[in-house]
Amino acid sequence: MSKSNCPTTFDAISRFNHWIVAIAMIGMLGFGLYLENVDLARSVKGPLIGLHKSIGVAILIYGLWRVGYRLQQGFPAALGNAPTWQEIAAKTVHWLLLASIVIMPLSGLMMSVFGGRPVNVFGVLMIPAIGDFPAIGKTAGAVHAIAGKLLIAVIGIHVLGVLKHRIFDRDATLSRMVTGRVE
Ligand code: HEM
Ligand code: HEM
Repeated sequence: MSKSNCPTTFDAISRFNHWIVAIAMIGMLGFGLYLENVDLARSVKGPLIGLHKSIGVAILIYGLWRVGYRLQQGFPAALGNAPTWQEIAAKTVHWLLLASIVIMPLSGLMMSVFGGRPVNVFGVLMIPAIGDFPAIGKTAGAVHAIAGKLLIAVIGIHVLGVLKHRIFDRDATLSRMVTGRVE
């Protein structure tokens, strides 16, 4: 049972939060993989990593409020008559996505500050290095890379689920996240 103030749909704040953070997360996955896999000159790569970090910390700050808002509002009940296992799968995916909004930027940040590197966020916020603790820094780096790859798969399942609702069930699952309408 949902404890949302609006139990059948997503309010405007939820819809804005969903799409702005979804676009940012997908963009940052692409950005991170680009940095990791494309052979760039050091002079180009350095500033790009700085930009990746700045955007990532901004996502962490905004994402904490976005996830907190969802925890406080709860989820509207699922639409349609999907079998129970599909509803459980969809809910599991939603929790994994919410977790990724915190885990991805936090692991990136920990990789830097426990690797002895401060993080300069757009030149307006300086997060100091905590120290050189390679075990923590490397573990955080592994989490960042592995969780990033898992997240791509989870987003894929999420989008396939939305398409299934749209094409086969023809219910309002997508439209209630776009316009808020359930009709
Ligand atoms: C929304 C948040 C973020 C997402 C989705 C994201 C995603 C990624 C991905 C997919 C990679 C490639 C990893 C690999 O394949 O090995 C990567 C690399 C990296 N990320 Fe992030 N990241 C985020 C935030 C951050 C933050 C906040 C920091 C640091 C403050 C950070 C620092 C780095 C660094 C240093 C690399 C390695 C780049 C290289 O040396 O090639 N990331 N990121
Ligand atoms: C093109 C990509 C995407 C589409 C079409 C999409 C669409 C949707 C739709 C239609 C819902 C509502 C499901 C329902 O009513 O039960 C939803 C929920 C949700 N989506 Fe996405 N989504 C996308 C990408 C993402 C990404 C990248 C994330 C996070 C990394 C994300 C996180 C969530 C979460 C956590 C929910 C549960 C409700 C909420 O807290 O917003 N989505 N999505």
